[in-house]
Amino acid sequence: MPWDAIPWRPRIHLGLFVHRVDGLAPGLYALARDPDKVEILKGVMGSEFCWQRVPDCPPGLPLYLLQEGDCRALATTVSCGQAIAGDGAFSLAMIADYMASLATHGAAFYRNLFWEAGMVGQLLYLEAEEAGIRATGIGCYFDDPVHAAFGIVSREWQSFYHFTVGAPVEDGRLTTLPAYNFEEEQ
Ligand SMILES: Cc1cc2nc3c(=O)[nH]c(=O)nc-3n(C[C@H](O)[C@H](O)[C@H](O)COP(=O)(O)O)c2cc1C
Repeated sequence: MPWDAIPWRPRIHLGLFVHRVDGLAPGLYALARDPDKVEILKGVMGSEFCWQRVPDCPPGLPLYLLQEGDCRALATTVSCGQAIAGDGAFSLAMIADYMASLATHGAAFYRNLFWEAGMVGQLLYLEAEEAGIRATGIGCYFDDPVHAAFGIVSREWQSFYHFTVGAPVEDGRLTTLPAYNFEEEQ
């Protein structure tokens, strides 16, 4: 649970902007959610990347360092200039081989890719809460600069959704009402 809710092999892979994570050097990372896609991703992403396995990475988690460096400004820029993408622990792009997916499963599978991206997002919301921090889905991002950040030139691969994880900052502009606030509404 919950991954068995979708019957297809993972099509959404993560391109990560790591800023402040204990035990990980800041930089760009890739998480190939289907280990069989690692070699394909290596060919699709920039040839300058080192694809170094992360030390102490749990076995079976295909997480790779692509390039060390401070990518806070880059992460912010590609997510429509939103500070939440650069100021947290890490943010990420959910990248799919959408043309191959559509060729295999038909055009209607486009929405399935969003379902899978949403599922990854919901898990990140829950896991961040469990870890005592927070997460936010990011629907506003610039496709082409995101692809450029990971050296993706092929139009066959597309980013479907972004996410960021970090410590929360209360937004004083928002009002929060108790759930099921029936009495006040009447
Ligand atoms: C698909 C999706 C895209 C979102 N995109 C953004 C975004 O680009 N920037 C942002 O600050 N929050 C974004 N959010 C977060 C929402 O603005 C909001 O914080 C979240 O849905 C919780 O809202 P609620 O507390 O009213 O339920 C997104 C959320 C979802 C589910």
